[in-house]
Amino acid sequence: IGKKKASKYHWQSQNVKQSGVDDMVLLSKITEDAIVENLKKRFMDDYIFTYIGPVLISVNPFKQMPYFTDREIETKCPVCICVHTYICMCYACGTYNPIGESGAGKTVAAKYIMGYISKVSGGGGKVQHVKDIILQSNPLLEAFGNAKTVRNNNSSRFGKYFEIQFSRGGEPDGGKISNFLLEKSRVVSQNENERNFHIFYQLIEGSSAQQKEALGIMTPDYYNYLNQSGTYKVDGTNDSKEFQETMEAMQVIGIPGDCQMQALHIVAGILHLGNISFIEAGNYGQVESPDLLAFPAYLLGIDQNWLQEKLTSRKMDSKWGGKSESINVTLNQEQACYTRDALSKALYARLFDYLVEAINKAMQKPIEEFSVGVLDIYGFEIFQRNGFEQFCINFVNEKLQQIFIELTLKAEQEEYVQEGIKWTPIEYFNNKIVCDLIENKLNPPGIMSVLDDVCATMHAKGEGADGTLLQKLQAAVGTHDHFNNWNSGFVIHHYAGKVSYDISGFCERNRDVLFPDLIELMQSSEHAFIRSLFPENLNTDKKGRPTTAGSKIKRQANELVDTLMKCTPHYIRCIKPNETKRPRDWEESRVKHQVEYLGLKENIRVRRAGFAYRRVFKKFLQRYSILTPETYPYWRGEEKQGVLHLLRSVNMDTDQYQMGRTKIFVKNPESLFLLEEMRERKFDTFARAIQKAWRKYIARRKYEQMREEASDILYNSKERRRNSINRNFVGDYLGMEERPELRQFLSKRERIDFADSVTKYDRRFKSIKRDLILTPKGIYLIGREKVKKGPEKGQIKEVLKRKLDIGSIRSVSLSTRQDDFFILHEAQYDSLLESMFKTEFLSLLCKRYEEQTKAKLCLTFNDRLEFRLKKEGWGGGGTRSLVFQRGQGDTAQVKPAGKNLNISVGDGLPKTSTQFSRASTRSQEQMYSTPDKRSRPPNAALPKLGSQKGRRAPAAQTQNANLDFLNVPDQGMSGMQRKRSISQRPPPAPTSRPKVQPRSHGPRCRSLYQYVGQDVDELSFEANEVIDLVKEDPSGWWTGRLRGKEGLFPGNYVEKI
Ligand SMILES: Nc1ncnc2c1ncn2[C@@H]1O[C@H](COP(=O)(O)OP(=O)(O)OP(=O)(O)O)[C@@H](O)[C@H]1O
Ligand SMILES: [Mg+2]
Repeated sequence: IGKKKASKYHWQSQNVKQSGVDDMVLLSKITEDAIVENLKKRFMDDYIFTYIGPVLISVNPFKQMPYFTDREIETKCPVCICVHTYICMCYACGTYNPIGESGAGKTVAAKYIMGYISKVSGGGGKVQHVKDIILQSNPLLEAFGNAKTVRNNNSSRFGKYFEIQFSRGGEPDGGKISNFLLEKSRVVSQNENERNFHIFYQLIEGSSAQQKEALGIMTPDYYNYLNQSGTYKVDGTNDSKEFQETMEAMQVIGIPGDCQMQALHIVAGILHLGNISFIEAGNYGQVESPDLLAFPAYLLGIDQNWLQEKLTSRKMDSKWGGKSESINVTLNQEQACYTRDALSKALYARLFDYLVEAINKAMQKPIEEFSVGVLDIYGFEIFQRNGFEQFCINFVNEKLQQIFIELTLKAEQEEYVQEGIKWTPIEYFNNKIVCDLIENKLNPPGIMSVLDDVCATMHAKGEGADGTLLQKLQAAVGTHDHFNNWNSGFVIHHYAGKVSYDISGFCERNRDVLFPDLIELMQSSEHAFIRSLFPENLNTDKKGRPTTAGSKIKRQANELVDTLMKCTPHYIRCIKPNETKRPRDWEESRVKHQVEYLGLKENIRVRRAGFAYRRVFKKFLQRYSILTPETYPYWRGEEKQGVLHLLRSVNMDTDQYQMGRTKIFVKNPESLFLLEEMRERKFDTFARAIQKAWRKYIARRKYEQMREEASDILYNSKERRRNSINRNFVGDYLGMEERPELRQFLSKRERIDFADSVTKYDRRFKSIKRDLILTPKGIYLIGREKVKKGPEKGQIKEVLKRKLDIGSIRSVSLSTRQDDFFILHEAQYDSLLESMFKTEFLSLLCKRYEEQTKAKLCLTFNDRLEFRLKKEGWGGGGTRSLVFQRGQGDTAQVKPAGKNLNISVGDGLPKTSTQFSRASTRSQEQMYSTPDKRSRPPNAALPKLGSQKGRRAPAAQTQNANLDFLNVPDQGMSGMQRKRSISQRPPPAPTSRPKVQPRSHGPRCRSLYQYVGQDVDELSFEANEVIDLVKEDPSGWWTGRLRGKEGLFPGNYVEKI
């Protein structure tokens, strides 16, 4: 397992968008509302994970999140990282325990963890096989153990604890599943809008025609065990496809083909058993249609008549004066139905246990050394009618909440003690009182004990037992704060709210005996597989008080607690944001209720009571090393000293932190924020430096390329000036960004290719300055004139003297010598210009010309050039000539002589000159500095459209008025006690987060135009806004601060005030 990666990547340290706080220990205000608000903010931004210290809160998004792709697994995913670091750190025993109510996402979280472990750990034949089994166990057990309920379309109806065992090398090479009480009553009856276990529908939808024939598969409404709830389909579930997956899983797990077939026989057999109905015939139950017996008998490999007999009668031991004899008692219709259902449930439960055992066998390992356990149980649930199963399920949840409370507190306490730091315990609602109410053995006996007592003394038929139970409960725990009676049962004030339990069936289901008759019947099966599911020895196994379902779950729950106590537990507290199962649907009161009963606020307080933040010295050093040169990149010295050095460098108050033995503890989140903020700023500065360097590099590369191209134009045609050949090309030598008086002639977003002040020669060869601007649209020649009239009379103003469309240029001519003259030839008249940067200009012009005309611009080189003059009125027109001669020096000497201009200049570099080597260009590049951002001239881009957050659609109204139980439950006594115990201690006064001090008034400027930032480091503003000026940069990109944000903007968009 790549330990390296775990330390390098941390999802929180990724440079991702911030949404709320990712560790709620850092909330500045700890109220339940603030917690809910934070979770909501993150949920709406698609961050489903939030921490409270080491506890992970996961809010069910009800949509596929990108958290668990390969990339995320390596970088971001918190669950993964938890697991990863955990596995890297300790090979002892750890557990991952998702807890939360039904549909909150426990199973999904557990699967992610298992998937992750298998993904990141090493491979090889046997290991791969174990991994396959770990992964394939999920679809198999879900097919047989999950069902649609009104709370969750894929609700776990059993609990499991999956131990993944590791080799010393960190490879998963074994495993073990412990399963808890399957809700087998579902096999024979389901509530409205719910379904039986998935496998039944999978078999019906997915089996082949041949299988259908062999198993007697009809449509689901044909079967009594499926048609009571009227629900056959589940949104988003493809039963047929899942059937194939279930079968494939059986294959991978190594269940032999004939056993697979037998398993399906049992599933189908149960469906057919359910269709056997009874009529009352003179107080006796009689099979209504005996022909319906044949098929189930065939599927189960038993005798049809015997089946009939066992469903309608029972052998009973009766004692006559010390003698015991066996007599056959006939059952009434109700008892017959009960017996049929008992057989169906037993078959199903035993098949389920067989599957779990098959998985275990396939993963078995001789010695178990290191393991990671993943717990996935059924969540706390409240239905319209809550029976014995809900009682057990909610009891297990109560127990888990208990150890969560104990362990988080214990772990915390131990940490302070271990590190030698003092702390005061925080009050919290301890639900031990509810656990005791349920499982106490004596004084007073808990509900389960009373139940077992009643069951032990109940008659075989069990009539009236439930009534007795209720009376006895009233006597035993009637005055308990968390217990009430109600007309059809009792109410328990669970940690998660009040639940009313319907007493009917409690005793029967608790007793859970399978009559020996039925065992005997199944032992007569001709199929060895079915016989193996009923291994009891009826002659010897009779003695003693039979174990009840209640005592079994109590034992299992306590064993689980023991196991978890021995390990390092990691919790994922799953929160269900709605009952609509829709993404982005946030039901505030529901979440608040969960936040309350999960004790998140207390959790945060406990975490913060002493010190909000703690980290091992090494990690702390790593995270903040950037703050000082002594620590960056490495601190050379003792880690503890390095941490102290960092703390001092930021002037952290000494009462704000304590040094433990291995960890630094920081008192308030604010102090940490300070560190974080400084770290952010450092990164910001570095990021800017990198950006700047990168831009420079890009600009340089671009201009180097341009220069090469430019050289090519003149190659072999013209001598070169000594200084020009290795010059950097800048393009805009006028700083157009700051020259609104020149920009006025261009359109708003016109890009500047080239701008420079050049010399223009007229008909008398008189020279005058012009600003020459090249843009993709054309060539501009701008001059200056005195205003002749109006209010600005006498002032010198810029005038557009000439604008040439690129396409209208016919050619450009130059001499072969090293002078800077060039003539732009156009249809009407030509322009004689002189520019130091002609090569750059020409190369850019050639490029634009070719872009627009798809032809090459004609360049001519001659030492005798001619240019045509502009016609003016009657006069003008005609031509002038330039004659180039060899002279002295590098500067051209001009001498007009009538219609000729004689130009003489010394020899330049040969016509075949190209650039010098790159190394030598470096020394010269300072000559013309490249403005940092000139590749991005300021333009007024359209404002980006604000991302309109989709509003929450109103939740679909539930049709059925009977769904009140889906409402947020009443908190009952647990809620009250929780509030009481918590109010005993005032929350630590939150100090407000230190604000960045506003700067005192320095220079400011006012925006002249609107500017929309083009990059994250730029400011955006409207016209007429006042901006604090931080820095005026000669590049034209100034730095300012507006509305708390610092950023760059073009200086020519503002005026200083
Ligand atoms: N992390 C997640 N990403 C996407 N969808 C999720 C996630 N967690 C849960 N869901 C959705 O919510 C449904 C219910 O989740 P899950 O089955 O894990 O609940 P549970 O807590 O195990 O409930 P129960 O106690 O009933 O077994 C899933 O089938 C899935 O559609
Ligand atoms: Mg589940």
